Amino acid sequence: MRYLTMLHFLLLFLFLAPSNLDIVKLCSCADHHGLISAISCKEMEREALMAFKKGLTDPSARLSSWVGEDCCKWEGIECSNGSGGHVAKLDLRNHFQLINGGVSDTTAYKRSCLGGKIGSSLTRLENLSYLDLSLNDFEGTQIPNFFGEMKNLSYLNLSFASFSGEIPRSLGNLSSLEYLDLYADSFSSTGTWELRAENLYWLSGLFPLKHLNLGFVKLSKVGEKWLQQVDVLPSLVELNLHFCELQGLPNSFPFVNFTSLSFLDLSDNSFNSPIPLWLFNLTSLTKLHLRWNFFNGAIPSEITNLKSLHVLDLAANLDLDGQIPRFFGNLSKLQILDLSGNEFSGEIHEFSDGFKSFPNSSLVSLILSSNNLGGLLPESLGNLENLHHLILSGNSFWGSIPASIGTLSYLRVLDLSYNKMNGTIPKGFGQLSNLVDVNLMSNSWVGVLTETHLMNLTNLEIIMITTEPTKSLHFNVPYQWVPPFKLSSIRLENCKVGPKFPMWLQAQSELTTVSLRNAGISDVIPEKWFSRLSSQVVILDLSNNQIKGKLPHQLDCPKLNSIDLSSNHFDGPLPLLSTNASQIFLHDNSFSGSVPENIGHHLPRLQMLHISWNRLNGRLPSSLCNLASLQILALRSNQFSGELPNCWNSSFTLWGVDVANNNLSGPIPTSMGFLPSLTVLMLGNNNFNGEIPSSLQNCSGLTSIDLSRNKFTGNLPSWVGRREASLFMLNINSNKFGGHIPEELCELRNLRIMDLSENNFSGVIPNCLSNLTALVNGNISSVVFERQIWTVLKGREPEYSSIVGYVNSINLSGNNLTGNIPAEITSLSTLQSLNLSRNQMSGSIPKEVGKLENLVLLDLSHNHLSGPIPVSLSSMTELTKLNLSYNELEGRIPQLGSKFKDASIFEGNPSLCGEPLPNKCIWN
Ligand SMILES: *[C@@H]1O[C@H](CO)[C@@H](O)[C@H](O)[C@H]1NC(C)=O
Ligand SMILES: *[C@@H]1O[C@H](CO)[C@@H](O)[C@H](O)[C@H]1NC(C)=O
Ligand SMILES: *[C@@H]1O[C@H](CO)[C@@H](O)[C@H](O)[C@H]1NC(C)=O
Ligand SMILES: *[C@@H]1O[C@H](CO)[C@@H](O)[C@H](O)[C@H]1NC(C)=O
Ligand SMILES: *[C@@H]1O[C@H](CO)[C@@H](O)[C@H](O)[C@H]1NC(C)=O
Ligand SMILES: *[C@@H]1O[C@H](CO)[C@@H](O)[C@H](O)[C@H]1NC(C)=O
Ligand SMILES: *[C@@H]1O[C@H](CO)[C@@H](O)[C@H](O)[C@H]1NC(C)=O
Repeated sequence: MRYLTMLHFLLLFLFLAPSNLDIVKLCSCADHHGLISAISCKEMEREALMAFKKGLTDPSARLSSWVGEDCCKWEGIECSNGSGGHVAKLDLRNHFQLINGGVSDTTAYKRSCLGGKIGSSLTRLENLSYLDLSLNDFEGTQIPNFFGEMKNLSYLNLSFASFSGEIPRSLGNLSSLEYLDLYADSFSSTGTWELRAENLYWLSGLFPLKHLNLGFVKLSKVGEKWLQQVDVLPSLVELNLHFCELQGLPNSFPFVNFTSLSFLDLSDNSFNSPIPLWLFNLTSLTKLHLRWNFFNGAIPSEITNLKSLHVLDLAANLDLDGQIPRFFGNLSKLQILDLSGNEFSGEIHEFSDGFKSFPNSSLVSLILSSNNLGGLLPESLGNLENLHHLILSGNSFWGSIPASIGTLSYLRVLDLSYNKMNGTIPKGFGQLSNLVDVNLMSNSWVGVLTETHLMNLTNLEIIMITTEPTKSLHFNVPYQWVPPFKLSSIRLENCKVGPKFPMWLQAQSELTTVSLRNAGISDVIPEKWFSRLSSQVVILDLSNNQIKGKLPHQLDCPKLNSIDLSSNHFDGPLPLLSTNASQIFLHDNSFSGSVPENIGHHLPRLQMLHISWNRLNGRLPSSLCNLASLQILALRSNQFSGELPNCWNSSFTLWGVDVANNNLSGPIPTSMGFLPSLTVLMLGNNNFNGEIPSSLQNCSGLTSIDLSRNKFTGNLPSWVGRREASLFMLNINSNKFGGHIPEELCELRNLRIMDLSENNFSGVIPNCLSNLTALVNGNISSVVFERQIWTVLKGREPEYSSIVGYVNSINLSGNNLTGNIPAEITSLSTLQSLNLSRNQMSGSIPKEVGKLENLVLLDLSHNHLSGPIPVSLSSMTELTKLNLSYNELEGRIPQLGSKFKDASIFEGNPSLCGEPLPNKCIWN
């Protein structure tokens, strides 16, 4: 801002210094032939322009040519022809380079904008017919009222210029206007300006208007009457009302005046009716945009009145339905048909047969993605000979790609992703020499792809084919084959590409995305290829193959975002990676040696580090604490030793820590309690010792704790219960915890897995178990928690199953618990597994144990339980694993059906009798 005002000041100074101007005047009057040439600029108009400039801000000095006498030569100005001409045209549109219709550098864009105040001196340019101030930034000022005085304007463009407030009705006085563009979107990120109109009656003064663009102007106040108010413009050729908060679209309408309308954009409003029939009286329409509304019902056949239609865009209305009609074939000029994002259903035979009568269909883009279409793709698709884009993703098409596809010789983009294609890719595919982008992901392809399919695809840049792991799509291309294309992206998942690392792939020099997941490659990694690739690749996934070899000692991947080499046979030391990648997956290989000491220094953006299931050893370097963006640290199943680094603090976003199955020792570092996001903490099967640090109670988002099979001591702290809302899994089995089970555990409303087995807990089971709400009614879904564990484990079975195998389980076995089994336990109706074996429990089995109707496993063995076996056990239909042995139960064993015929279930209870035990009941 300071810079702006400084510049402004300088301009002012120049303007106010008359002696300077005089010099300029003298110079510009004589050209280099020494002749005096006529100055066409009127002095009065020049002064008007200077006054106009004075009000403007111009940080990039776009108006620096606005000096000297002859204003007709100034940038952006044209005078009417002949001597004594007047300023006729003022074109100050900002020509900032847009990329993909947008601005990539907002600061640079803002600098290029004119802004400030628009002075009324403009009205002195009496012959001005053309005014363009578009793409500048007037920072929410109002469109000046005096614009309505510029009676000769035929062209007025104020689009993308950050005007706001009510559109002045005075614009209705511009009776010569043919072109009015007030499109109110903006590229300047500061402020949200809103241009609006209470009504559009002022349009009635603009009889000659041909082009009207009110996109993004808020017209919600205009109501249903908007159409009548626009219908006064008989010459209208182009009408853009995109995103105007319009609601009502009259179903019937007496008479449309603007029958010359060629372009109509009503997209992104809230129309929620069937498409009204009067639209189809606009027989001159070439482009009709109705996307992002709530139009519903079928497409009326009257649409075939629109013989000139080039573009029909009905995408994303969500509710348009019915079959895609045959009569589209009659729209012989149709080039773009977008019906994506609706509820169209059925097959597309009829539709595509409809084009047979016009052998030269003009259709260039056919977009039917995200509907409920299905069936086989018809051979008649081959009639659409001019297609460049065929986009059918997100439907339920099945079968093979029709052979006739080979006739679509202009096809550039083919997208059949996310369908149920379960057939083959025909040879005809190989004739599509203009193909650039092929997306066949997420289908069930079978068959073979050969050289014939690929050798003419000289323009191919992107190829993505993924099939089901159970299907087989075989890339049968000679190892030495040299492809004609230069790919930027290749994804071939679950397709057989190996066993060798194909040469044709190694020949690709411009790859930035490579995914060959589960591609049957069992080769040594081609080192040269890998090194070259690493300097340019953004996404690299070679996971689930049998790739062997060592990675370079040092790996610099400046552009890398994600690398996945997991589940292969890589060996040797971990490479020292230097990259901005956010994800590194090297798990499930045979990497050995230690983690590079300075690993934390070259991975500034790393969020996920998965190196579980390798042969890594040594201590964990404290530079891990430099990975400030780390979210998941997964080191499971290696041979790491020593202690966990104690250098975490509250600035870390680490949420998942899995170091289970190593030889780590020492206490849980106090600083782990400072990790505010800690959610999954898996330390099982190590040699950790000491007590649970009280700092851990700060981690209020902990959902899953696995401390099993370590040497932890002390009591289970009562604050664990205060993790009431979060804790889903608490597994501390096989440690040396002692004392009582704290009552506070009952406050864990989301607890599904509680395993306190093989410790030294004594005392009674708390009576409050019925407060474990998730186990009582189970209506709190555990999917979120399970997915967290799944993410940390990278979905690897069987580890995942062994951890969440029985969701809804309580295991207190192998302790020294006394007292009765609390009757409340029978209210835990979603419980699947209950193990209280090997304790000192006494009293009888709760009579209503049968209420645990979801129980699969019940083990009460090795206690001192007495009394009869409750008859209600026989109603537990899910129960398959039962053990009541070694107690003091008595009486007749109830009829439990054929599942429990094994005497060992009941043995060690001398007073039990009846089947399946050998001792018969003597009374009865
Ligand atoms: C001036 O004349 C030229 C050539 O005849 C024409 O292209 C241009 O549009 C005219 N300019 C104005 C402002 O009338
Ligand atoms: C446009 O049509 C309306 C009817 O909707 C009619 O009343 C009006 O006179 C027509 N206006 C013009 C300018 O033709
Ligand atoms: C549409 O055209 C028909 C036939 O020309 C005419 O009867 C009808 O009034 C028109 N409807 C509108 C809304 O213009
Ligand atoms: C392909 O899928 C369709 C529809 O689901 C099914 O009817 C057909 O049997 C499948 N064909 C093959 C070869 O699997
Ligand atoms: C590849 O193109 C050549 C030359 O146009 C043609 O003769 C050949 O049949 C094409 N091959 C395939 C498999 O389409
Ligand atoms: C169990 O829940 C009841 C009712 O919500 C409550 O009064 C009681 O204090 C809870 N008991 C424990 C130990 O949390
Ligand atoms: C179990 O508890 C009883 C009494 O509470 C005690 O006598 C016994 O020593 C304990 N046994 C073990 C193995 O801790």
